[in-house]
Amino acid sequence: MSTKTARVLVLVCSSRPGALGPAVGTWLTDTLAPRAGELDAELVHLALGDLDLPFLDEEEHPSSGVYAHEHTRRWSALVDAADGFIVVTPEYNYGMPATLKNALDYLGREWAWKPIGFVSYGNTSAGTRSVQHAKQVVTTLRLVPLGRTVAIRISEAVEDGRIRPSATLASAAVGVLDELVRVAHALRPMREAELSGPLPGFYLRRLTPDDAPEVTVMQRCCWVDEALANDTLDIPALHESPEQTGEWLATWDAMGLWRDGRLLGMVRARRVGTDWHLGRLAVVPDLRGQGLGRWLLRTAEAAADPTCHRVVLHTGTHSRQNIALYQSEGYRPAPPTSDAETTRLTKEITQRNVA
Ligand SMILES: Cc1cc2nc3c(=O)[nH]c(=O)nc-3n(C[C@H](O)[C@H](O)[C@H](O)COP(=O)(O)O)c2cc1C
Repeated sequence: MSTKTARVLVLVCSSRPGALGPAVGTWLTDTLAPRAGELDAELVHLALGDLDLPFLDEEEHPSSGVYAHEHTRRWSALVDAADGFIVVTPEYNYGMPATLKNALDYLGREWAWKPIGFVSYGNTSAGTRSVQHAKQVVTTLRLVPLGRTVAIRISEAVEDGRIRPSATLASAAVGVLDELVRVAHALRPMREAELSGPLPGFYLRRLTPDDAPEVTVMQRCCWVDEALANDTLDIPALHESPEQTGEWLATWDAMGLWRDGRLLGMVRARRVGTDWHLGRLAVVPDLRGQGLGRWLLRTAEAAADPTCHRVVLHTGTHSRQNIALYQSEGYRPAPPTSDAETTRLTKEITQRNVA
């Protein structure tokens, strides 16, 4: 389960002059602000009317991701950066407003695997028919509608154009946010999979400084064997702080192998002159012996900068298993450097191993 901040777009759908929607949106963000702080969620208030989206005017299907217009690209960037949505919607003629349908239709993959909650308002139905209508549409986009909702009956809840303070409504709104943040975190692995991994369910995702806590923990558990094999604790991966880990994550190309949001393996790479330096190749102890390390090694080699002629890596002088893996992949020991504790291995880059 991810611990990153969840970015939640609060989308106010009605755009007509004098609409009630903006007041409902303001009540919602004010009500949710303290809980959002506790949940480490960022609420971003957005009126669909401010997007200046005309009726869908893109020539290509949204699934292509080819956007000719600046308004589409702007909307795409906003949705892409979000982890979930709360829609503040009226009910127009027993359905969702056209503004919402149009905004949904504009995009494709940007919506996928993100939760969407609804705060509806209306007369007798309190906007619930609008929500039911929207739910069947959003599932087509791989949005995940929440079970929790807030349904506001205007005649009971609105006074002087504002939502009257109500513990019941406030608690329902917090319930929506709680559920949304949980689902947003749970779905993060589905959103973040960049490349499929070597086994079903595994996927590769670039590591960033935000991943420093997970990487730090993984390093400590993975390099214990190295410490034993080489009879030393003088191994940076064993004592780096999360801050130090974050620093190198910002400068190296590091890839993580994940499953269900758990970091299971990693490798880092960068160009030094015409050499492609690899390091920190690791697989968690419970998943060793399944070819994951070899797969990560080959993946990192294949990503070598085209100007590089050689892959270079280091391992402990007594890390027999590592050395055997590298030699079986074509690496040869290189002349030792000043550091007698590590062995340097190199491999020429050919068409075959960067293909
Ligand atoms: C075009 C239109 C259709 C409406 N249809 C419904 C409806 O089907 N059910 C309902 O409860 N209220 C309906 N209403 C009343 C709205 O609930 C009420 O006007 C509400 O304030 C609309 O939200 P807005 O002010 O944010 O636009 C409708 C209002 C409009 C303008």
